[in-house]
Amino acid sequence: MPDYEIRKPDTEELRTFARAVERGFTEHPSPEALDDFEGFLKRIDNLGAFDGPDIVGTIGAIDFQTNVPGGKLQTGGITIVTVAATHRRRGILTQMMRQILEQRRERGDAITSLATSETPIYGRFGYGISVQRDRYKIARSDAELRPGLDSSGSVRIITLDEAAGILPAIFDAAGADRPGWISRGEHDWEHRLKDPEYDRRGDSALSCALYEDDAGLGGYMLYRRTGDGRKDIRVAEAIAASDEAAAALWRFCFGIDLGEEISAGTRPVDDPLRWMLVDMRKLDMLRHDGIWSRILDVQAVLASRSYSSDGKLSLKIGDDFLGVSNGTFDLEGDADGASCRESSGPADLEMNVADLASIYFGCVRPSVLARAGRIEARSDSALKTADAMFATRKAPWNVIDF
Ligand SMILES: CC(C)(COP(=O)(O)OP(=O)(O)OC[C@H]1O[C@@H](n2cnc3c(N)ncnc32)[C@H](O)[C@@H]1OP(=O)(O)O)[C@@H](O)C(=O)NCCC(=O)NCCS
Repeated sequence: MPDYEIRKPDTEELRTFARAVERGFTEHPSPEALDDFEGFLKRIDNLGAFDGPDIVGTIGAIDFQTNVPGGKLQTGGITIVTVAATHRRRGILTQMMRQILEQRRERGDAITSLATSETPIYGRFGYGISVQRDRYKIARSDAELRPGLDSSGSVRIITLDEAAGILPAIFDAAGADRPGWISRGEHDWEHRLKDPEYDRRGDSALSCALYEDDAGLGGYMLYRRTGDGRKDIRVAEAIAASDEAAAALWRFCFGIDLGEEISAGTRPVDDPLRWMLVDMRKLDMLRHDGIWSRILDVQAVLASRSYSSDGKLSLKIGDDFLGVSNGTFDLEGDADGASCRESSGPADLEMNVADLASIYFGCVRPSVLARAGRIEARSDSALKTADAMFATRKAPWNVIDF
């Protein structure tokens, strides 16, 4: 198979690059969407695969921080992954992925993360599911909160201009103790609240409900009218810094007149909402993979978080694609932090770097992956130690799509 030239596009090639991305996703953007998109491309790291002058593959990376228990990881968010339909299955994605992972590692990223269009694509590159999300659907007539969930504050509708000055602080507070939470930069907030028509896909403009009480930060809900005759409500983001705020916002949402069905796409797997309902069976729920992460520096990553229980473990990690994470690592951790060093001793647990990402964020217990044949354990007590150490108080979650 031929090797394609993989390089950063020049500034004058950016419009062609933008079109290549849109073509890869078979989209036909408006000139306004293409302008905005080109602005986005200027702010991120891009690589194109060139077949002569033609751009036949695209990949990019944005910078953000990901929360882990007791710390944060510098992250490359991989995005705009496409290969032209005429050039698929010739190894172009593989070539681009290798190059961008090597670049991000040299820059000092501990991990890269992404959201995938299809599940079979990224496991081969060492990505494991680090955040799962739930999708909800409920008929408004069935949506009722249990009595006793009182909130002392109130909900009001604010404009998106007002929201720009209020929402970021709530967002940051709500995510502060969430593993997997991804920071949202200034440009992302601008884009979120600009709510361009081309992003609405036939739905109404965004509305914003804000909950406030004397206690402080409160919460917000961004939602749209959708569906036939716009009778349904789609919750784009419901973020609450307290459970009182969450209950008040859902009560508000369930009470929106002329709404028939309510849906929400990016809920945490430990959302108390189901347990707040009078009848939880009425809530249609679908769990799906949200974010996949690829560890680039095992030692740094393991030493960057705190652990739910004191313990020592020796982990043998396999990294077939890049090789950089191969090795055995001795981890010693507790609630205050951890140390990690390479070793040559026998390992307690053996796993692929992809599965390490899943247990690292608390997305799944190590013993569950052992039962699934993905982790090999030397003893049951090693698995018990791993379950206790990697446990997180809250399930990993974030709402950012990139
Ligand atoms: C997904 C996509 C980028 C793959 O690019 P590609 O250059 O064809 O991928 P590669 O040739 O490097 O494939 C490497 C391996 O992954 C497999 N693979 C790639 N895409 C796959 C998919 N969608 N489903 C299943 N397997 C896939 C290939 O079969 C190949 O396997 P092999 O090594 O066993 O032969 C391309 O199909 C595409 O642009 N799709 C539309 C846009 C999209 O979905 N982008 C992803 C956004 S997250």
